[in-house]
Amino acid sequence: MITLDLIGIGTGNPDHLTFEAAARLAGADLVLLPRKGTAKADLADLRREICARVLAGRATPVAEFDMPQRDAARPDYLAGVDAWHAAIADAWATAIAENLPGGSGRVALLVWGDPSLYDSSLRIAERLRARGLALSVRVVPGITSLQMLAAAHAIPLNRLGAPFLVTTGRRLRESGWPPGVDSVAVMLDGGCAFASLPPEGLTLYWSAYLGLPHEVSIAGPLAEAGARVQQLRADLRARHGWIMDIYLLRRDAGGNDEVSHGPATG
Ligand SMILES: C[S@@+](CC[C@H](N)C(=O)[O-])C[C@H]1O[C@@H](n2cnc3c(N)ncnc32)[C@H](O)[C@@H]1O
Repeated sequence: MITLDLIGIGTGNPDHLTFEAAARLAGADLVLLPRKGTAKADLADLRREICARVLAGRATPVAEFDMPQRDAARPDYLAGVDAWHAAIADAWATAIAENLPGGSGRVALLVWGDPSLYDSSLRIAERLRARGLALSVRVVPGITSLQMLAAAHAIPLNRLGAPFLVTTGRRLRESGWPPGVDSVAVMLDGGCAFASLPPEGLTLYWSAYLGLPHEVSIAGPLAEAGARVQQLRADLRARHGWIMDIYLLRRDAGGNDEVSHGPATG
């Protein structure tokens, strides 16, 4: 029997690892560490740093493996994701078979942020179970990029008693402003989907590289801050070779709300 611990590690700052996460990692028989290519080496470096800190003095094997990449050129998005997840399941199965002594024990996988939010680790574990692998899954929650965004701007995610919605850049671009909400958080945006919205009455709270040394934030009316973000985002992407950003868009209140403007810079 294999126990797979999916351990949320936060989004860049090793200090955000919880005591529970560290204890679970320290108790593992094998740690799987995904590599995401040279452009995103910083992300693997963070996982290595966490392992070095938590596993110091232990002989726990850390098996690095190359994460398969999604074929973004496939016209059918969902079919492309399905093939990608199958390839990741293969990579996990191979790494476990090659590195877990006796084929049973506790395997830890460090998950960016938290496994519940735009992360497919739980779905991939389910695939392995469906293939017949005797696997039980446990989750250790981690700090999400959404929480980091709210902290960076010192804002609540929702208006008083109101819902907010989390979506992707693709959805926002394709479907426009979602009905029934005045606060929308956007993740997985390959290219400033906010620019597709009429900017009037919207405030943008944007951050990139949250938790990492080059964290940066911009906030302001979309009409003005949006242009600054577009320029800065392009510059940062060119400079670092990759970017991860997240933002909240808020419809301006009629005057009875607690919108606060945090210590955003830029
Ligand atoms: C595949 S999702 C993973 C989310 C992760 N599970 C979480 O809990 O935040 C990746 C997206 O999360 C956001 N993200 C993750 N880490 C980030 C960071 N350090 N700074 C800004 N955005 C981040 C970006 O929107 C990125 O496109």
